Amino acid sequence: MPAHVYVCDGCCCGRIEKGHNEVPAELLREAWKKHELAEKVNLTISSCLGPCRMHNVTLLTSEHGRTWLGKLSNESHYQALVQWAIDTAQTGSTASLPNLLLDHRFDPSE
Ligand code: FES
Repeated sequence: MPAHVYVCDGCCCGRIEKGHNEVPAELLREAWKKHELAEKVNLTISSCLGPCRMHNVTLLTSEHGRTWLGKLSNESHYQALVQWAIDTAQTGSTASLPNLLLDHRFDPSE
């Protein structure tokens, strides 16, 4: 099963008019193309994923299950997502989460 990155750019995440940080969707699409990631790691720029309170939200899915990430506030967080996808694509198995993102994990049921 290929890994999948769902980056929320919905009703709250990425809405600068609501005081939230922009989601660099174009940067992500270009990185996926440049590094030819799509075969191993799918990218979806998504509508609302549910837990809006954690804006900006991203969901990673892989053979290891689901990892929810929230409060992604700047471009370096999204660059770290790209790095995770590159590492996952290159090794063929789910990479460890970059350190920058470890503290951004959350449980949507809490
Ligand atoms: S808009 Fe992103 S979780 Fe709702």
